Amino acid sequence: MNNPVSIIPQPGYLTTGAGVFTLNADTRIIAPAAAARVAEQFAAWLRVPTSLPLPVETQSGGTAAEPNTITLMFTQGGEFGREGYGLQVTPGAAAIRATDINGLMHGAQTLRQLLPVEAESRSAASGVEWVIPEVTIEDEPRFGWRGLHLDVGRHFFPAAYIKKFLDTMALHKFNVFHWHLTEDQGWRVEIKRYSELIEVGAWRDASPYPADRYTLDNTPHGGFYTQEEVRDIVAYAQALGITIVPEIEMPGHAVAALASYPELGCVGRDYKVRTYWGIAEDVFCAGNPEVYTFLENVLDEVLALFPGEYIHIGGDECPKVRWKACPKCQALMQREGLADEHELQSYFIRHFERYLNERGRRLIGWDEILEGGLAPNATVMSWRGAKGGIEAASAGHDVVMTPNTYCYFDYYQSEDHSAEPPTIGGYIPLEKVYAFDPTEGIPADKTAHVLGGQGNIWTEYMPTTEIVEYMAFPRAAAMAEVLWSDPTTRDYADFLRRLRPFLQRLDSLGVTCRNPF
Ligand code: ACM
Ligand code: ZN
Repeated sequence: MNNPVSIIPQPGYLTTGAGVFTLNADTRIIAPAAAARVAEQFAAWLRVPTSLPLPVETQSGGTAAEPNTITLMFTQGGEFGREGYGLQVTPGAAAIRATDINGLMHGAQTLRQLLPVEAESRSAASGVEWVIPEVTIEDEPRFGWRGLHLDVGRHFFPAAYIKKFLDTMALHKFNVFHWHLTEDQGWRVEIKRYSELIEVGAWRDASPYPADRYTLDNTPHGGFYTQEEVRDIVAYAQALGITIVPEIEMPGHAVAALASYPELGCVGRDYKVRTYWGIAEDVFCAGNPEVYTFLENVLDEVLALFPGEYIHIGGDECPKVRWKACPKCQALMQREGLADEHELQSYFIRHFERYLNERGRRLIGWDEILEGGLAPNATVMSWRGAKGGIEAASAGHDVVMTPNTYCYFDYYQSEDHSAEPPTIGGYIPLEKVYAFDPTEGIPADKTAHVLGGQGNIWTEYMPTTEIVEYMAFPRAAAMAEVLWSDPTTRDYADFLRRLRPFLQRLDSLGVTCRNPF
C-alpha cells in the first residue's frame, strides 16, 4: 500500500485519515458532460492494470460522491483558483472538485498517485488491492507557466514519442510544452507554402559523435512533423491540460531555412543544413523584405496550427557579422536610423511582435531580445542566468525564468562523467534544480511578472529518446515541485522520500529515468 502518501508535486493542503476506498468491479466514475473526457482518460489509465470495468457515467449537478464512485464536479464561486482542485477520499468514495477542467485533470493525476504503483503498469497486474487512502487535499499551482522545453531540431523524435513525453509531463502537472521546432541542424514543421523546408531543411548529412563533437558520423539524420500530426499533438496536449508554445527561431539559428531558400540569407551562398553544433554566423537577412514576407507566411501557418496565446520567436545567439557586411542590412539601418546591429535585431523582433499582436497573440523570446531595446509587449525567457529576466520584469515585462544555472537538463547531473552519457558540459544535479527559485532577484513589487519557469532539454547530445528521458527525469520532478508547490514547505529529504515511488511509476510507464539513489 502507498503509505505514507507520496505525491509529486507536493499538494498545498493534505491530511490523511485511517479509512480506505478500495476500487472493485462495481466502482463507477461519474462526471458532468463537460468533464467526461477527464473521466474517460482517468478510466483509460486504470482499466488495463486493474482489469476493472470502471464505467464512466455523465451526470450533471451533484455535490457529493455517491458510494463506490469517483465523482468529478465543477464548483461555483471560485473555491479554487485556476487549475486548482480539491480531492476528498472517504471510506468508499472519492470526489474531485475544481473550477476548471484542468483542475479536474490535476486532481485525477493526484488520485492516480494515491493508488498503488502497479496502477501505472501497462499490462494487467494481478494480486493487487486497488486501495486509495482516506485523504483531504486542497491544491493549486504557484505558477501558471510550468514548462518543459524539447529541442527536436538537433535530434528529431517522432510524433508518437511527443505524445509519450506529454503524458509524462501531465503526470508532473506541467502545463506548457515549449516545442523547439526549427534549428540550424533541422527544420521540423511542415509549412505548406514552403515545401523546401521539409524537403531540404529537415535533413542533414551527418551529426557529430556524442563522445567527440569534432568528428562526424556520416549518417544522415532528419524528420519532420506533418501539419496533420501537429494538429493531433496539439489536441492531445490540450486534453492533458498542456498548452504548446511553438518556437520558430529568428533571426539566428536559421541555417536549415537558408539551405531551403538561400535568397533569405545575406550572402546567398550554397548553404547546407548544419552538421556541427554551435552557433552559425549565417542568419536571416534583416534588410531583405522577402525575409519578412517569408516569416509572416510561415507564422500564418503556425498560428493556424497552434491556438495558444504565446508564439516563441527564438531571438537567441544571433551573430551580427553578416549584417555588418550586408549592403541590404546596412541600407535598412541607415533608412531607419538604427545605431547598430543590436538595434537592427530589435527592429526585426518588433516587426514580428506587431505582426503577432495584430493577430491576437503574444511574442516570447530568449533574453537576447532585450539587446537594442525590447519590443513593447514582449515576454522574455531568461536563460543566460536570471539577469535578463530581472531586467525585463523590473521594466514591467512578463518573464519566464529558465536560467542555465538551474534549468538546463542537458548539463551533467553527476560529477562522475564516466558514469553518464556524454553531455554538452555543465553540472546541474537534482538537488540544484530543487533549490531553484524563479523569483530570486526579482524586485518584490515585480514578482507578479514572473509567469513561471521551465526545464530546457537541448538535444545535441541526446540522439535517442532513452537519453532524453535519462536527462529529463527525475530533474523534471524537482522542477515540477518548484513550479507548483508552496516554497515555504519545500523539503528536499521529503521530496526524495516521495521520489522513490514516483520513480517506480515512471519505470512502469516505460520512462527511462535516471535513478539518483
Ligand atoms: C539557448 O540556450 N540558446 C537559449
Ligand atoms: Zn542582410
